[in-house]
Amino acid sequence: MDDAASLPERWINLSGKVALVTGAASGIGQAAALSLAGAGAIVLALDRDADGAQDVAKAIRREGGQADARALDVTSQAQWDETTRWVRETRGTIDILVNSAGVALSDRAGDTELDVYQRTFAINVEGSLLGMAAALEFMRAAGKGAIVNLSSTASLQGNPIMASYGASKAAISHFTRSAAKETMRAGHDIRINAVLPGLIETAMADDFHAIFDKVGPRDAFVKMITTGRAGRPEEVADLILYLVSDHASFISGACIVIDRAASA
Ligand SMILES: NC(=O)c1ccc[n+]([C@@H]2O[C@H](COP(=O)([O-])OP(=O)(O)OC[C@H]3O[C@@H](n4cnc5c(N)ncnc54)[C@H](O)[C@@H]3O)[C@@H](O)[C@H]2O)c1
Repeated sequence: MDDAASLPERWINLSGKVALVTGAASGIGQAAALSLAGAGAIVLALDRDADGAQDVAKAIRREGGQADARALDVTSQAQWDETTRWVRETRGTIDILVNSAGVALSDRAGDTELDVYQRTFAINVEGSLLGMAAALEFMRAAGKGAIVNLSSTASLQGNPIMASYGASKAAISHFTRSAAKETMRAGHDIRINAVLPGLIETAMADDFHAIFDKVGPRDAFVKMITTGRAGRPEEVADLILYLVSDHASFISGACIVIDRAASA
């Protein structure tokens, strides 16, 4: 062993990295924005809830971090174009993208209105794809970057009343794998991963409860899809933080379950 070998640094340092987070006003996106800023990243909090995104950016700045916020509906190409124009003029690049904006709209297979399918896929799938396209333009030019997409354990197994939500998440997992392989094969050090949380205590968990109330007792639902408790958004944010850091330099195209063995 080399006498001069030093212990490797093991804390995550994202100083100076520009990180965009969609769905940053609430839940997992909010926790991810705070974690990234805590590690030194310059965060851009994006959400269709403009006030909520501003509140998160203000909280980060109050704690000494760097953050801005902008209103963004992830389904709008025009709004993504506006966002990337702003980023180019003010920050110059995008190093990190976390696609957390999402909705839980679902109904019985066969009873689901077309509008519900369309909104589910527009936000959960197309919104993430537009975000990836925006980020990849900068990342390809830089030759590097890290993207994390929010999929779900609902993409892995069938669940009653969750067909359209689960299908949208399966689509984003698959897109993650293919895009990751494509960018690596093209010679870019751009890592694209998906995280697949089980039930997490956020506003969306209330939406899931409301959906499941249609078919049975809420307790039975929670029991069915957890091993005793729902997760906290901060627990998912820790995984996201690791995945966008250099410590995860050999991880790309992965769909990583975080559910305390619930789907094991
Ligand atoms: N909470 C869970 O149990 C759970 C489990 C697995 C996966 N997920 C996924 O994690 C991600 C975050 O979920 P969460 O639990 O934090 O939900 P949340 O409801 O707390 O937050 C979602 C955020 O996305 C924003 N949003 C919704 N539509 C948007 C749009 N068109 N444009 C911009 N922003 C939009 C909302 O305003 C909200 O701030 C979602 O993709 C969700 O599918 C959540």
